[in-house]
Amino acid sequence: MSNSRICIFASGNGTNAEAIFKHFENHPTIHVTLVLSNNPNAAVLERAKKFGIESGVFTKSEFSESDDVVKRLLAHQITHIVLAGFLWLIPKKLISAYSGKMINIHPALLPKFGGKGMYGMRVHEAVKQAGETETGITIHEVNEQYDKGRIVFQTSCVVLSSDTPEQVASKIHNLEHQHYPRVIEQWVKASTNP
Ligand code: GAR
Repeated sequence: MSNSRICIFASGNGTNAEAIFKHFENHPTIHVTLVLSNNPNAAVLERAKKFGIESGVFTKSEFSESDDVVKRLLAHQITHIVLAGFLWLIPKKLISAYSGKMINIHPALLPKFGGKGMYGMRVHEAVKQAGETETGITIHEVNEQYDKGRIVFQTSCVVLSSDTPEQVASKIHNLEHQHYPRVIEQWVKASTNP
C-alpha cells in the first residue's frame, strides 16, 4: 500500500488528536504529518509540538473564502483529513478536493443530537435533558451538511439517571480514544488504492 499522510483539524483541547498521534507514531504506511486549527490558543497545537508534528492556524476567511487551506494540504501531500473536535462547517471546495477522504467524530449516536451548534458539552447536556438512557459516538465521512455523511462506525454506552453531563462527557471521551484511532486506520486502508 502506498503511504498515507493525514492532516488533523481540531479547534480545542485535542485529546482525540493525541490518541491518534500515539496510534500512528510508528505506523509503517500511515503518518500524521500536519495539524491545522482555527484557534491559535488551542491546546492541540502544543500537543502536536510535543510529538514533533507540524501545525498551523487559519482564519475564517482563509478557510471559507479562499483556496489557501486546500493549497496548504496539497503542498503537504495530505491524502486524508481527520476532524477531531473541529467546529466549523467544511467549505464545498475542501469537500470536493477530499471527497471520501475526510472523516469526523461526533459525541452522540447520530442522527440524534447532531447538526449545527451541537458540539462538545452541548451534546451531553442535550442528551441528559432528553432523559436518554444510552448515548455513544459516531464516526462518519464528511459532506456539505453538519453530521450527515456516511456512517462508518457507532458504539454506545449507558447513561445513568445519576450521571451529570460531565460524567457523560468522560464516558464518551473514553469511547472516542478507544475506537477513533483504529477506525481511522481501517478507513484509511479501505480508501487507499493498493
Ligand atoms: C470530542 O468529544 C468530539 O467528539 C467533539 O468534540 C470533542 C473534542 O474533544 N466533536 C464535536 O462535538 C463535533 N460536532 P478533544 O478536543 O478532547 O478531542
